[in-house]
Amino acid sequence: MKTAIICYSYHHGNTEKVARRIAAVLEAKLMKPEETNVSGLAEYDLIGFGSGIYFSKHHKSLLKLVDTMPEMKGKKAFIFSTAGRGEPTMAGNHRALRAGLEGKGFVIVGEFSCYAWDTFFLLRLIGGINKGRPNDDDLTKADVFAKDLANKLKG
Ligand SMILES: Cc1cc2nc3c(=O)[nH]c(=O)nc-3n(C[C@H](O)[C@H](O)[C@H](O)COP(=O)(O)O)c2cc1C
Repeated sequence: MKTAIICYSYHHGNTEKVARRIAAVLEAKLMKPEETNVSGLAEYDLIGFGSGIYFSKHHKSLLKLVDTMPEMKGKKAFIFSTAGRGEPTMAGNHRALRAGLEGKGFVIVGEFSCYAWDTFFLLRLIGGINKGRPNDDDLTKADVFAKDLANKLKG
């Protein structure tokens, strides 16, 4: 299954750690939104989209990239993220990206999220929250997510 993962990670590289683990399991090509050739995505069977959560959404570069995509009817996609606060609910934080992808005809086949180091704004004054995350446990969960996805799509 030819897989691409498009990931934007700038705050602490948290989401990139998750992306690398998922990419290793799925033998996926990892790329950044700004270096993604939208017309070249047709050759992939599965595309992963991930970033940190900024103001309750994925990064705007990822959302904008999806906006520029042609119709992708039936193409399989998965969504992942890392977030600092609250419940890292996929339902809430993933809503905008999910809506964008579904609007282009993608079928969402899986979602993954975990807490991660966050030093945004006043949190910086206390050294941030979730320092050390994603940790080994989070990254093992990312491995399991990717293996489950591969098994699900195989059969
Ligand atoms: C500008 C900014 C806004 C953020 N907004 C949120 C938010 O709305 N909810 C949340 O849980 N975390 C928020 N965070 C924390 C990030 O989601 C978290 O640190 C994430 O792991 C960053 O991923 P990255 O290192 O891959 O960029 C924010 C961080 C920054 C820098």
